[in-house]
Amino acid sequence: MIEIPGNLFPRRLDTHLPVAKNAHGIFIEDENQKQYMDASGGAIVVNAGHGRKKIATAIYNQILSHDYIHPTMFTTQPVEMLATCLAKKAPGDINRFYFLSGGSEANEAAIKLARQIHIENGNETKYRLIGRWKSYHGLTLGSLAAMGRTSFKAPFTPLLKESLHIPAPYCYRCSFGLKYPSCKLRCALALDELIENAGSETISAFIAETIPGATIAACFPPKEYLKIISKICHHHNVLLILDEVMCGMGRTGEWFACNHFDIVPDMITLGKGLAGGVIALSALGVKETHFNTIKENSGVFMHGGTFSHHPVAAAGGLALIEILDREKLVQRVKIKGKKLGNLLKKYLLPLAQVGDIRGKGFMWGIEIVKDKKDKTPFNRSLKTVEGVRDNLFEKGYLVYTSTGLAGAHGDALVIAPPYIISDDEMEMLVKAIKSVFLEFFN
Ligand SMILES: Cc1ncc(COP(=O)(O)O)c(C=O)c1O
Repeated sequence: MIEIPGNLFPRRLDTHLPVAKNAHGIFIEDENQKQYMDASGGAIVVNAGHGRKKIATAIYNQILSHDYIHPTMFTTQPVEMLATCLAKKAPGDINRFYFLSGGSEANEAAIKLARQIHIENGNETKYRLIGRWKSYHGLTLGSLAAMGRTSFKAPFTPLLKESLHIPAPYCYRCSFGLKYPSCKLRCALALDELIENAGSETISAFIAETIPGATIAACFPPKEYLKIISKICHHHNVLLILDEVMCGMGRTGEWFACNHFDIVPDMITLGKGLAGGVIALSALGVKETHFNTIKENSGVFMHGGTFSHHPVAAAGGLALIEILDREKLVQRVKIKGKKLGNLLKKYLLPLAQVGDIRGKGFMWGIEIVKDKKDKTPFNRSLKTVEGVRDNLFEKGYLVYTSTGLAGAHGDALVIAPPYIISDDEMEMLVKAIKSVFLEFFN
């Protein structure tokens, strides 16, 4: 037995978690040799699989070569190389990358940079942020203010700066009661309406997950949605920040999820899988024109971070990208993601409690409902998705959960395996989910 002394403030206070001992490929093993298939890569993080020697070696070598280097004193090759590598894969002139440690931090940086760009362009009245209901952008106060997942922010509301919100492009539960395509993308046009009402001279940025993940479970927006949003932002000189912390880095079969929509935002944030989950690393990518605004005016982004631009984390990120490139894993996600989606739909959609299955690549959502016909959600007090998750855990399958899809209620699972999952493993996973649904809802 591994010793657990008991001073940790754990993430979960409602249970004693098993102790993980090994993690290789798509499996994690606990101290009792029980195997778990990591079907969500933790929190949609592990993309190249666990235990990658290339990443370990790159990090080890970087530590021995030069470990902590303060980013205002020196630059280092790994951060320079990683920025160039990402710039080559990013859309349009998203050419400059600022490295941090977590997705929340990257979003904070984006919110602040948007404000600073406006000030330096002489638009000092632009400070307000617009986000979307049912969104998730992180745990820090700025990200909490931006997000629209009310249950997460409710206790902290008195601490938060005001931000405005529009409905999410969530066709299964359209906020306007409309149907695509006759809706004419009313949910996107709501942005124009809100900016007009609030006064465009006050709005700094609009932040949105390119593909919403943690709250409405891999809900892929209609194809015109982001083009309309992008046009509205451009028209009002509102900067468009796309949060790709979850859906970036090949998760949906494109390096950047916005590539599905043929648009270039002003900023993109990345995190989670940027170094495959091996080491904390996130990034804020920004258009060259905005970078030049800062460079040619104040000459300094009023930000920082003791652990920003960390060469060891960047070495991990570079090694991860090399693996994804060499093994053509992003192309694999595109092809195999269709298979995973088809399997999920074939086995699970006929079940009485599965209301919707949606997604792209290796990011899929399974929405759980009490009544399929009128989409009635389970009351949140029942903790339905937690029950399904715990039963899957018992059987050795790890999945991610989404809640609050229908007001304060609603449940969904997110399935997002590492990009190396085999066809047989996908089939095993989907059959296991089906058998748990049949037992749990019996
Ligand atoms: C879309 C999105 N943005 C930001 C974050 C926050 O990232 P982190 O937990 O690394 O701070 C998350 C985390 O789940 C996320 O899903």
